Amino acid sequence: MAKFTKVTHPLVDHSLTILRNKETGIAEFRRHTSIVSRVLLLEATKQLAVVSQPIETPLGPIDGKKLEDKVVVVPVLRAGLAMLFAVQDFWETVSVGIVGMERDEKTAQAHEYYRKLPPISGKDKVIVLDPMLATGGSLEETVIALTGKGAQNITLVCIVAAPEGIEHIRKSCPDVSIITAAVDDRLDAQKFIVPGLGDFGDRYFGT
Ligand code: PRP
Ligand code: URA
Repeated sequence: MAKFTKVTHPLVDHSLTILRNKETGIAEFRRHTSIVSRVLLLEATKQLAVVSQPIETPLGPIDGKKLEDKVVVVPVLRAGLAMLFAVQDFWETVSVGIVGMERDEKTAQAHEYYRKLPPISGKDKVIVLDPMLATGGSLEETVIALTGKGAQNITLVCIVAAPEGIEHIRKSCPDVSIITAAVDDRLDAQKFIVPGLGDFGDRYFGT
């Protein structure tokens, strides 16, 4: 069974409260999405391997470090783009693959409408970005697409997760790790997360 991590930090709780508040406008929603996404990415990457890189500071030599692992970040369209923007802001060179998933409004079944992935080897660390893990259908389909391409080391990074979605991923993709900032109560009849924060994509993109 792969790892499950709920990130706990007072600044994340503060940002999450702003994201959840129905009175929060688009500018604040975007700003706090960015803050939470960065903290989650730091958690997702804290075990990355580094190698020695000797450099000179203005005052002398030091044994610096550079990343050894190859990382591929995969935002799930559309809402995952919000997290990608935050990641690219401070990690300009990271490799990016894109998967587009949309839930049917009536059945909540996810269907894939876009896929463009770079070459992925079993050794690469693949970090999937999707702010909402509800039923788990969208992320399960994404994991199937990635494993079909050769990925073996996959971490799902979410902002809010429902217990039903976590359970679904644990059963259907037992080797995949999950990192989230919140685990909420349940799904409602429309398969929305309760209390959640509403429709993430609509709030972030102002739809
Ligand atoms: C949302 C969200 C996830 C998915 C989660 O996307 O961003 O991808 O629903 O639900 P699930 O776990 O039940 O599959 P949505 O389909 O609303 O598309 P969007 O990102 O374009 O808004
Ligand atoms: N997608 C969202 O944006 N919100 C939910 O609560 C569930 C799926």
